[in-house]
Amino acid sequence: MPEKKPFQRLPNDVSPVNYDLRLIPNIEKFTFEGEEDISVQVKNATSKVLMNSVEIAVQSVQYTGEGQDITEGVDVTYQEEDETITLNFPQELKVGSGTLKIKFTGELNDKMKGFYRSKYFGPSGDERYGAVTQFEATDARRSFPCWDEPAVKATFDVTLTVPSNRVALSNMPVKSESVEGELKTLSYERTPVMSTYLLAYCVGEYDYVEAKDADGVLVRVYTPVGKQEQGQFALEVAVKTLPFYKEYFQIAYPLPKMDLIAIADFAAGAMENWGLVTYRETALLVDPVNSSSASKQWVALVVGHELAHQWFGNLVTMEWWTHLWLNEGFASWIEYLCVDFCFPEYDIWTQFNSQDLNKALELDAMKSSHPIEVPVGHPAEVDEIFDAISYSKGASVIRMLHDYVGDKDFRKGMNLYLNKFKHQNAFTEDLWAALEQSSGKPINKIMSGFTNQMGFPVLKVSQVQQGSNRVLTITQEKFCADGGSGDASSSTWMVPISVSTSSNPDIVAHRALMDQTTITLTLENVKEGEWVKLNAGNVGFYRVQYSSEMLDALLPAIKEQSIPPRDRLGLQSDLFALARAGVASTVDVLKVVEAFQNETNYTVWSDLSSNLASLKVILQYTDYYDEYKRFARNLFSKVMQILGWDKKEGEGHLDGLLRSVVIGQLGSCGCEETKKEAKKRLSAHIDGSSILPADLRAPVFSTVLQDADEDLFNQVLELFRKTDLQEEKVRILRTMGCVTSESLITRVLDFSLTDEVRSQDTVFVILGCAGGKQGREMVWQFVQDKWDILYKRYQGGFLLSRLVKASTCNFITEEKAAEVEAFFKANPAPAAERSLQQALENITLNKQWLDRDNKGIREFLTSR
Ligand code: BES
Ligand code: ZN
Repeated sequence: MPEKKPFQRLPNDVSPVNYDLRLIPNIEKFTFEGEEDISVQVKNATSKVLMNSVEIAVQSVQYTGEGQDITEGVDVTYQEEDETITLNFPQELKVGSGTLKIKFTGELNDKMKGFYRSKYFGPSGDERYGAVTQFEATDARRSFPCWDEPAVKATFDVTLTVPSNRVALSNMPVKSESVEGELKTLSYERTPVMSTYLLAYCVGEYDYVEAKDADGVLVRVYTPVGKQEQGQFALEVAVKTLPFYKEYFQIAYPLPKMDLIAIADFAAGAMENWGLVTYRETALLVDPVNSSSASKQWVALVVGHELAHQWFGNLVTMEWWTHLWLNEGFASWIEYLCVDFCFPEYDIWTQFNSQDLNKALELDAMKSSHPIEVPVGHPAEVDEIFDAISYSKGASVIRMLHDYVGDKDFRKGMNLYLNKFKHQNAFTEDLWAALEQSSGKPINKIMSGFTNQMGFPVLKVSQVQQGSNRVLTITQEKFCADGGSGDASSSTWMVPISVSTSSNPDIVAHRALMDQTTITLTLENVKEGEWVKLNAGNVGFYRVQYSSEMLDALLPAIKEQSIPPRDRLGLQSDLFALARAGVASTVDVLKVVEAFQNETNYTVWSDLSSNLASLKVILQYTDYYDEYKRFARNLFSKVMQILGWDKKEGEGHLDGLLRSVVIGQLGSCGCEETKKEAKKRLSAHIDGSSILPADLRAPVFSTVLQDADEDLFNQVLELFRKTDLQEEKVRILRTMGCVTSESLITRVLDFSLTDEVRSQDTVFVILGCAGGKQGREMVWQFVQDKWDILYKRYQGGFLLSRLVKASTCNFITEEKAAEVEAFFKANPAPAAERSLQQALENITLNKQWLDRDNKGIREFLTSR
C-alpha cells in the first residue's frame, strides 16, 4: 500500500470574515451556479490561497485588496485527493483586508451530501425534486469553495435565486425579495459568526405550522404539502424545548427564528444547522392516527437533540473533529433531560440505560473499540467517528459526570463554558476546566480516564458483615468482552461509585470516588440479610460483578420488583455481559431471567429482550433452538396475559410500547396463539374492517410475515404502496425481511434496490432479512454480489458501515469470519474498517460463547 501522506489543516495566511454567497440551483438540470464575494483577512503575504472544494468547477477568480486589484491571470489547481483547490495569483496578496470573488458551477448530486437533490411526489404522483444541503462533517466544500473547518468561523450573507413558486429557506430570515419572471431572488439576513458545516439552504414545496415560543422566537415546522398537521407534535416539542434550554444554559437562543424541516431524501436522522434544522421525515412528522408511541418518542428525542446543538455545537463549536464526541455526546445526553422535562410519563431516563448506556458498554468492551477522543484528519476518518462510542459512550460518561457533580454546579459550569467560548471554539479540556471551577471537584482527572483510554472497569465486589456494619471490598479491572483482562499495562479509572440498599432502594445511600485498584467501603447500619447494590440507578459507566452471596440476596428483590427498574435492568444487563465473557455461567443468568416473569416495566422487558436476542442468535445454530423458543414463550406469557391485545382504559405511553415488545417476542418465538391472533388482525386491517393501532403494526407485520406466502406478501406490499406516510413505509420495509421462504427473501432483497425504496432505507430492508439462519447467509451473499452498487451509492458513509457490520456480525464460525475478512481485503471500505473489526470480533465472541456454554444451556433448556 502506498504510504498515506500526513493530513494537514488549511494554512491561515488568508482567512474569511464574511461570505457573500449567491446560488442559483437548477432543479431540472440538477446543476447550480454560484458566486461568492469573500471578505478576507490576509495575515501573511502570499500568492497561493488554499481552500476546500470538491466537485466544483471554478469559472473565475478575482481579488481586490488595499491598493491591489487582480482581475485576471489567477490559475486554479485542483487537489482532488485532499479535497482542496489552490488559487495561484500572479502576485502576492498584501497583508490587510480584501475581497476574493469566485464564480463556480456544480452538480445537485444524488448522494445526500453537499448541495443535493431530494425527490418527492406531486399531487398526481408525479416525480418532483427539491434542493437541500447536508454539510456536516466536511461537505460544505461541495457547494462552494470555502475554509471548511469548524474553527474557521465567519458570517454568511446567503442569496438564493429559485423558481418563484417554490419555498426557499436558509439559516436566517429573509431580508429582501425580488421577482423576475419565473424566478425570485431571496436574500437572507447575515448569520452570526459560525462554522461552515452549520450553513444550510433548501428549496422545495412545503406547508408549515408555526408558533412563537415563550420568548417570542418564531418556530415553524415545514412538512410536505398538505401534511401540516403532522408537524404539530414537533412544533409543540420545539416551543417547549427552546425556553427549556434557555433556562438551562442561562443564555437566550440567539437567532430570530427556528425552522424545522422534513426532507424526503436524508442520510442521517437530523442535522442541527443553525436556525434551519433538517430532519428525515420519520424523525419529524407525527401522524395523529398512524404514528406509533415509539415514533413520537423518537421525534421528541431528535428535536431535543438538535435544538441542544443550537447552543452546544453551534454557539460554541469543537475546535476540531477530534472533539466531535463532545458535541454529540453532550446533545445525546441532554436530549433525555429535555424529553424528561416535556414528557415525564415517558420515564425516558430508564430508556437511556437500555438505548445508550448498555449499547456503549457492549461496544466499548471489545478490542475493536477506541478511546472517545481520537485524532482524525482526512474526511474519511472524520466520517468514521460518528459512531456509538462518540454518541452513546459520550452521553453515558456525561450523565455519570452530571450525577457526580450535581445539577446545580453542572449548570453553573455549563454556563461558564458557553459564555467563555461563545462564537468561538473549544477543546474537551475547556469544559472540564469550567466544571472544575464550578464544582471544585477533580473533573479532568476523572473524565480523562473515560475519554482518553478505551474501555471501562468491572468492579468486583464482596462483603463481610461486621456487627451492624457491612464492609465491601471492591476491586476494579478492565472489563473485556472475551473475559481477558486487557494488556499488561491494564488501565485503571477514577470511578464515582454509589450504593443503594434494601432499607431504601430508591435513594443513594453511599457515594465514594474510587481512586485505587482496590478499596474497602464500610456501610453503617446495614443489617445481616439486607441486599446491597452498587451503581444505584446504573448511572455509572462500569459493570459490577457480585460475589454469589450478594447476588443471591438481590434475586428476591427482582422477583418482587422491590428494587427500582433501572437497577433491575442493570443487574440483568451486567449478568448477560459477564456470561458472554465467560465470567459468569449462562445457565445462572437464565435462572435469573426466570425471576423476571413478574416484570411489568417496559424498558426492563425491552432490554432483556435484546439480551435474549443475542443469545438467540447463537442458539439458532443448535439442535435445541425449539427448546429455547419454548423457554422464551413461557417467560413472556404472564405479562402478555396481563396486557392483552387491546388498549385498556387509562393506559399510557409505556403500555403501548410494552405491548409491542411482548407481542413481537411471542410472535418471533413461535407462539401459536399470538400468530393466529396476529393473522386475524392483519386481515381485518387489510380489508379495512378494523384498523390496527399503530403500536401493534410492527409486531403484527413481523409475526405474520414469518409464515407468509406470496399472496400475503403481496398484500403487505400493497399496504406499503398505498400509504404516503413515510413512517408506515419504513415500518413495512423493516419488517418485510421476516419472511422465511427462500423465494420471498430473494424478493425482498431485490426489492431493496428498486426505485420504490429510498437509498436511505435500503440498508434496513436488507438487514431485516438477516434475522434467521438462512436469511443471514442470503444477505451476506447479496451484499457481496451487489457490493459495487452499494459502495458507489453510499460512498463509504455510515449507512455502509452499518451494512457491513450487521450483515456479518451474527455468524458464529471461524470459517465465516475468514470469508468475511477475505472479501473486504479484496474490496476495501476504509470508512467501514472499524465496523468490520467489530463484526469479526463479534463472530469470535459468539463462537466462544457457544463452545463454552453449549452443554450447560442444552441441559437447562431441555429440562424446563
Ligand atoms: N450532527 C448530527 C448529524 C450528523 C450525523 C451529521 C452524522 C453528519 C454525520 C446530528 O446532530 C445527529 O446527531 N443526528 C442523529 C440523531 C440524534 C437524535 C442522535 C442522527 O442523525 O442519527
Ligand atoms: Zn448531534
